[in-house]
Amino acid sequence: MPTPPAPVDLETRLGAILSDHAQLEGPLLPILHAVQAEWGYVPPEALPIIAEGLNISRAEVHGVVSFYHDFREEPAGRHMVKICRAEACQARGGHGVEAAAKARLGVDWHGTTADGGVTLEPVYCLGLCATGPAAMIDGRVVARVDEKRLETLLSEVGA
Ligand code: FES
Repeated sequence: MPTPPAPVDLETRLGAILSDHAQLEGPLLPILHAVQAEWGYVPPEALPIIAEGLNISRAEVHGVVSFYHDFREEPAGRHMVKICRAEACQARGGHGVEAAAKARLGVDWHGTTADGGVTLEPVYCLGLCATGPAAMIDGRVVARVDEKRLETLLSEVGA
């Protein structure tokens, strides 16, 4: 699993991120996106620093982080598996692929396997609607995913 940022690095980088966004109206979401782009998640240690920088409460920052599923509160796994949950893929058997992925990995959406290997995320349309169900493995888009193909794909990432 990725190592959390060292406190000094966190404070230095976060200070720069806060000052980069200081002039924005409604800077919290852009700041959180920048933080996640930097570390791959929003480290809990960042919340009080962001709150102080924006003169808002920690609860307010935490509320936004936990409300939006785009923000991760813990590091993602070494591999990212995304499965399309949009309508066309659902109509082509996506639900079975979802269930198989959850069962094989032993996690629910947004979860990471105990060994830190794989994070499972939903995605809503990958542009392969006619050849779904679709998935994305570490940024590689895959069409016509059924339970058997999923097994192969997950084996390839060590799950
Ligand atoms: S609905 Fe799944 S790729 Fe478009």
